Amino acid sequence: MGHVSHHTDLEGRTLLDVGGGPGYFRDAFRSAGATYFSVDADAGELSGLGEIAPGTVLGSGMQLPFRDDAVDVCYSSNVLEHVDDPWRMAEEMVRITKPGGVVFISYTLWYGPWGGHETSPWHFLGGRRARRRYAKVHGHEPKNKFGESLFKVTVRQGRRWSRRQQSADVIAFEPRYHPGWARWTVHVPLIRELSTWNLVIILRKR
Ligand SMILES: C[S@@+](CC[C@H](N)C(=O)[O-])C[C@H]1O[C@@H](n2cnc3c(N)ncnc32)[C@H](O)[C@@H]1O
Repeated sequence: MGHVSHHTDLEGRTLLDVGGGPGYFRDAFRSAGATYFSVDADAGELSGLGEIAPGTVLGSGMQLPFRDDAVDVCYSSNVLEHVDDPWRMAEEMVRITKPGGVVFISYTLWYGPWGGHETSPWHFLGGRRARRRYAKVHGHEPKNKFGESLFKVTVRQGRRWSRRQQSADVIAFEPRYHPGWARWTVHVPLIRELSTWNLVIILRKR
């Protein structure tokens, strides 16, 4: 949340958490003064904390059920790698954000140590192989199934999309968890894919 509040005051702002599950970040954003809404494609995830809270919507990040320019902040943490058209979801997030509003996108990088999620580190030998190996060892499929609910997303793709899109200015492009002195790594091809782990892209809508 610090990443977001660094770029915008949350007091009195409307925030949509895309792929927010049951609303893990609800309390943090509310205590910062934001009005919090969550949208998720999986009804099972939405009820993960018990009762589904008011302000929760069932829908896909790739086709957000909201009008253009609807929210002040559109937030998404660790969701892009779970959708088959991640940059369409990014476009959708920008679309529903008001001009001057902030879009926060963070995702787990495929070539990082946890790119394969519970199938790591075998994903380095290929996502399908890692999935098969997991099923054999554990006797059941992983929760995050490569090619179905887990996809290969890279720093390079994020950079290309950020530069291609015309609707927002990029105000941060950095590793989510690294200290400030290590941020330069995100600009070095190859090294950035292996070392970044989780990339944050923050944009301000024009
Ligand atoms: C790893 S969880 C992240 C949850 C939370 N944002 C966090 O950072 O802890 C991924 C979430 O994305 C949701 N999701 C997957 N595909 C989606 C889609 N097309 N649209 C919206 N949410 C989706 C899943 O249901 C799940 O709740």
